[in-house]
Amino acid sequence: MSHRIGVIGGDGIGPEVTAEALKVVRAAGVDLETVEYDLGGTRYLRDGEVLSDETLEEWRGLDALLVGAVGTPDVPPGLIERGLLLKMRFGLDLYINQRPFTYTPADGSPGHDFIVIRENTEGSYAGEGGALRKGTPHEIATQGSVNTRFGVERCIRYAFELASSRPRKHLTLVHKTNVLTFAGDLWERTFHEVAAEYPDIETAYNHVDAACIYFVESPQRYDVIVTDNLFGDILTDLGGAVSGGIGFASSGNLNPDRTGPSMFEPVHGSAPDIAGQQKANPIAAILSAALMLDFLGEADAAERVRKACADQLDLQGSTAEIGDAIAARV
Ligand code: NAD
Ligand code: IPM
Ligand code: MN
Repeated sequence: MSHRIGVIGGDGIGPEVTAEALKVVRAAGVDLETVEYDLGGTRYLRDGEVLSDETLEEWRGLDALLVGAVGTPDVPPGLIERGLLLKMRFGLDLYINQRPFTYTPADGSPGHDFIVIRENTEGSYAGEGGALRKGTPHEIATQGSVNTRFGVERCIRYAFELASSRPRKHLTLVHKTNVLTFAGDLWERTFHEVAAEYPDIETAYNHVDAACIYFVESPQRYDVIVTDNLFGDILTDLGGAVSGGIGFASSGNLNPDRTGPSMFEPVHGSAPDIAGQQKANPIAAILSAALMLDFLGEADAAERVRKACADQLDLQGSTAEIGDAIAARV
């Protein structure tokens, strides 16, 4: 069966790593029909296009979207990130951002294997707030955090279901209930209420600052983590850093109800500092494509891609050479 995939290489290293992800998926024997979309900061600088409502509508007919990375230093911060990436996450109701982290140290010391479930449509990303008297000494800027019972509950339920499907059956809520008492209270109450329906799941709670310690010192404690949008953003860069490097961190922006396509992209950004030099690690993009394959019902191909990435690889090569080596093993 052929899958229709929208591909947005994007900016910086985005097109470089996306090319390798597609190469590996094709080597795995999966039949993809790709539709390329030239979007991102570079496109915006050329003709002002960020993401039209028509393009977003067109995407509803696809099976999935594969994104490299978007954002360039030459464009005001947020213009592309909000106008393209967040418009996609919100518009397609990709309310789960699933970010797995596995690490097996070469020296035989204990590794880890956990998944962060990040709420992906609310919190401080919702865009509540504004500025008054901008540019004057009396300037005011507010940036609120939107937390709905509906949004929090569907995210927490997804995390409990995921934890149920895993051998350890352990779920940790990460928040900052000691300071963010309004949002924290809603998250905590919802978590406990849903937990009552899952008596076989062991639960834990960490404040986000302490979670940063545990990510570095004892990540083996985690199985599934559920957290809000901004905490999940920050924690998953740290998750990458303690799991071999950000160049290995993959993600799926999921619409679990399948009312539209889900979107798959690395956790990292466009890395302008190494763009165009074939220095980027393509594995984050390749593993994101493996998550896409899982979601498309291609579990066997997904597993082969993951296995090819886990084999000892020479990571000294160029982006394309690493992609070639993985494609050859898949
Ligand atoms: P970044 O993730 O692009 O880079 C942070 C650091 O990680 C850099 O030193 C970079 O060289 C390194 N790095 C990232 N990916 C790597 C890879 N595959 N291999 C090796 N090294 C890698 O974060 P940033 O510099 O804060 O952001 C740059 C731009 O990307 C910004 O415009 C930001 O908004 C955007 N961004 C986009 C996405 C996305 O499209 N999903 C995600 C994060 C950031
Ligand atoms: C990520 C990125 C995005 C986020 C930005 C680029 C909007 O950092 O996917 O982690 O903050 O969610
Ligand atoms: Mn991020």
